[in-house]
Amino acid sequence: KTGMITLDPGYGNTGSCTSDITFIDGEKGILRHRGYAIEELAEKSTFMETAFLVLYGHLPNASELVKFEQEIGDESYLHYGMKSHFEGFPDNAPPMAVLSAMLNTLACYNTDLLTTATEGEAFTLPAAKIISKVRAIAAWAYRTSIGKPFMAPRPDLSYSGNFLHLMFSQQFNLYEPLPEVEKALDLFFILHADHEQNCSTSTVRMVGSSHASLFSAVSAGVGALWGPLHGGANCEVIKMLTHIHEDGIKPRDFVEKAKDKNSPEKLMGFGHRVYKSFDPRAKILKGQVDNVLKAMNVSDPLLDIAYELEEMARSEDYFIERNLYPNVDFYSGILLRAIGIPVNMFTVLFAIGRMPGWIANWREMHEQSLRISRPRQIYTGEPLRSYVPMQQR
Ligand code: SDX
Repeated sequence: KTGMITLDPGYGNTGSCTSDITFIDGEKGILRHRGYAIEELAEKSTFMETAFLVLYGHLPNASELVKFEQEIGDESYLHYGMKSHFEGFPDNAPPMAVLSAMLNTLACYNTDLLTTATEGEAFTLPAAKIISKVRAIAAWAYRTSIGKPFMAPRPDLSYSGNFLHLMFSQQFNLYEPLPEVEKALDLFFILHADHEQNCSTSTVRMVGSSHASLFSAVSAGVGALWGPLHGGANCEVIKMLTHIHEDGIKPRDFVEKAKDKNSPEKLMGFGHRVYKSFDPRAKILKGQVDNVLKAMNVSDPLLDIAYELEEMARSEDYFIERNLYPNVDFYSGILLRAIGIPVNMFTVLFAIGRMPGWIANWREMHEQSLRISRPRQIYTGEPLRSYVPMQQR
């Protein structure tokens, strides 16, 4: 079985696991969900199809897809009582903090669903609620930060179209995205749907292993994803490219600094714990960015800098010796910027895309009846010593 690693029976799940959801070959740059290549899913599926596949293990037939999209559509609204919670956040509240808090708050309005059920409506309903409502939570966090009233979801729109509507529509001026923009966002979500046992997914498993609810497990996943070394990298890439562009730094000079171990600068969006050849998602996104910019009839100087950095890193021994290639975050930020998503929302959108993967991993862990995660340590502290009375210290 792919990903087979022996579990330590003495201490339950120690962070390694077997899984049927996602397969990655880091040497060959292969990423598959339930056996389907990410390239095919990116080209031929929608995010709703891929979410169903990741959650339930097979591509949905027509009636399954209609039912799944109906479940998601029915859960688009947030309970009116949640509105006041948003008003309690300061305008400059980091959207990832709001997202994590409001996913846990969602549990307060669904106390009958705080179980570890993996079958039937006791699972499908919380799964649909989280995948659907995460859009309104994200969009309302953004609109709170800019002092705009909340929009109600439109059941006539696609998953991604509805999110753009929730984010950008005005009361008497509904946002109608270009088809290319809606498709690009849907592709972004597909490419983030799952990624094996990365930092945030392992966090979801860890929290879920105590039999905490799915709501608190994904809320914890958001916390892990927020870090700039993980999902937060998509914001850091744009900050890096903007810094190079606006401060007139030569890309060559920046790369030189990024190679210096003592320099705080890293080439954000480069490197990966698993991919040691290329991240297939980065390749797909790079191709898409051009399409969206052409459709929006805009150009982005940051894209030219990104191309230059990638070219340079490909020829630099420092990057070649360490197998540092662009990862999913290197081009995703430029795509989101082209769509008009504010930078501080980039990682929130990563979380929206990753929700099906987190939920599928939480479910799989409970299906395997894994014991509570309890990693051990090697103690390197003081040997036994006696208590020292205060007057002798
Ligand atoms: C994601 O795990 C997943 O699957 C994550 C993810 C997902 O879908 O869930 O794919 C999403 O998190 C992508 C990664 C986004 N993060 C970044 O782009 C941040 C920049 N990248 C680095 O911080 C780093 O590459 C990591 C965190 C991604 C990986 O870190 P590792 O595997 O611990 O690698 P490392 O830090 O041990 O680096 C090995 C060497 C070191 O040099 P030496 O000590 O050997 O001299 O490579 C160097 C590092 O200094 N290095 C970099 C670098 N990344 C690694 N040098 C400059 N710039 C970089 N970006």
